[in-house]
Amino acid sequence: MTEHTAKFDVAGVGLTADDYPPLEQGPFDPRALWFPSQRRDHPLEIEIGSGKGTFLVQQAALQPGTNFLGIEYAGEFYRYAADRIRRHGLNHVRLLHADGRDFVQYRLATACCDVIHVYFPDPWPKRRHHKRRMIQVASLDAFHRVLIPGGQVRIVTDHSDYWAWMQDIVAESTSLFEAQPFCSPDSASDGELVGTNFERKYRRQGRPFHATILHRKP
Ligand SMILES: C[S@@+](CC[C@H](N)C(=O)[O-])C[C@H]1O[C@@H](n2cnc3c(N)ncnc32)[C@H](O)[C@@H]1O
Repeated sequence: MTEHTAKFDVAGVGLTADDYPPLEQGPFDPRALWFPSQRRDHPLEIEIGSGKGTFLVQQAALQPGTNFLGIEYAGEFYRYAADRIRRHGLNHVRLLHADGRDFVQYRLATACCDVIHVYFPDPWPKRRHHKRRMIQVASLDAFHRVLIPGGQVRIVTDHSDYWAWMQDIVAESTSLFEAQPFCSPDSASDGELVGTNFERKYRRQGRPFHATILHRKP
């Protein structure tokens, strides 16, 4: 996508670290800064690793009363997805160019978020890279902190080894979350779990999927 970068317009949707408040002000609620003031009390859902933005475009169109914040650290996908969201006129969706794990852990306010979506996170299959995986004990601690009571983490992966890893992490976090079966969002088509780009690609390849919803415990 690199050669097409110049034609992407992220205006009104795209955010970067330049849009953060000063670090000294501490963690912040994105709704107070990045969404229209009349939407300050509307729910906030976050997607980490939005890729080309398909989930945001599909689901946000069905949920106009919710603020959506996607987080994507690959610059080309960030620009592509932000431009796509802008072209769809989804003015209740923002896309942040950042590391989602760090953003949630260090910048996001306590109890500001209703749902965290994590669809097809990079599996980092080599053992020495496992520390880069999105789902870690520390990230579940952070997810629990930023979610409201009754909040959810929604996870789908095609990677069996990463799935087994997640089971171990969740087993270490039973005081924080209860794992329950996945249910698809309204935007998923028949036979889809969510209907992201990676899901569609992997489905054509016949890969098996694993999915769960982690319900935040009080
Ligand atoms: C396998 S792709 C899945 C994309 C999309 N969710 C889908 O299902 O089509 C994983 C995406 O997550 C992004 N990503 C991985 N780790 C991230 C992180 N820590 N913060 C933000 N984005 C991340 C990658 O750049 C990539 O776009």
